[in-house]
Amino acid sequence: MLCVSVEDFLFWKKKQLSKGGDQQSFAILLDCIGGIPTSDLNFIGINPEKNLYLKKNLEFLESIWDEYLLKSYPIQYLCGITFWRDLKLKVTNKVLIPRPETELIVDIVFNIFRRKSEKLFFAELGTGSGAISIALALAYPSSEGVATDIDQDALEIATKNYLNSSKRSNLQFYCGNWWSPLESFKGKIDLAISNPPYIPRDTYEKLPKEVKNFEPKVALLGGKDGLKHIREIIQKAPFYLKENGWLILENHFDQSEKVKQLLIENKFTSIEIVKDLSGIGRFTIGRYK
Ligand SMILES: C[S@@+](CC[C@H](N)C(=O)[O-])C[C@H]1O[C@@H](n2cnc3c(N)ncnc32)[C@H](O)[C@@H]1O
Repeated sequence: MLCVSVEDFLFWKKKQLSKGGDQQSFAILLDCIGGIPTSDLNFIGINPEKNLYLKKNLEFLESIWDEYLLKSYPIQYLCGITFWRDLKLKVTNKVLIPRPETELIVDIVFNIFRRKSEKLFFAELGTGSGAISIALALAYPSSEGVATDIDQDALEIATKNYLNSSKRSNLQFYCGNWWSPLESFKGKIDLAISNPPYIPRDTYEKLPKEVKNFEPKVALLGGKDGLKHIREIIQKAPFYLKENGWLILENHFDQSEKVKQLLIENKFTSIEIVKDLSGIGRFTIGRYK
């Protein structure tokens, strides 16, 4: 542990933030590399005459902050950690950094399945860091979950995140294209969730560089119209879902009416568009008959 006076630390912090970047990214750096939890940050200024103990020195923290600012390198990748709901997850550039808006998927599930003792069999397609599946496996301890991804490296990270977050073994990971690793679970799934790649090609080309240059293309690009993967997931869902099983999809800000149409064409019922906190129709949900 390295000792620094609170006064020096606060001066240094002000200098770093004056170079650019946002408070939230800075808090991730201090928590994950510096060893100062965000909850402690608010109280540090109360005792400026005291000392603070850091896991790494200020020069090292500054070098990471500069790399984040100069190259637009996501701070979560530089620190190897992100926070999502109440989870602390390992992330590398092999997985998408789970987004705050995606946190709502878990609340949608909570609204549908209100008893935490529920014995669900759920599947997540395209799990990335494992965020959604891990949150569900923890919230519904009597449930069993399966999570797939096309990328083996992503699955290794998801598995580590699960082992770090849970003492149970109610979540299994499978590598392969969407539903295909789940052949043996046909007709058995109560709930399937996916936040698939849905960015249309033209939009992908214009994404901010901190996303396009660093986050995996396979996690973002959804073909020409963005709906390539959503179409495939919906068309095959009826083979895998139980009667009355739920499908919950995240989509791009302007895709929910089209996703709704795809669900209707594939004989889903109880279809609903769920808005995110910005009022955008971010999720489309339905039941298979
Ligand atoms: C938008 S990311 C979502 C990751 C994570 N579920 C989340 O919400 O943060 C999409 C994920 O789908 C995976 N993926 C892309 N194509 C796939 C395919 N054909 N089959 C299975 N997974 C795929 C990507 O590797 C990526 O992890």
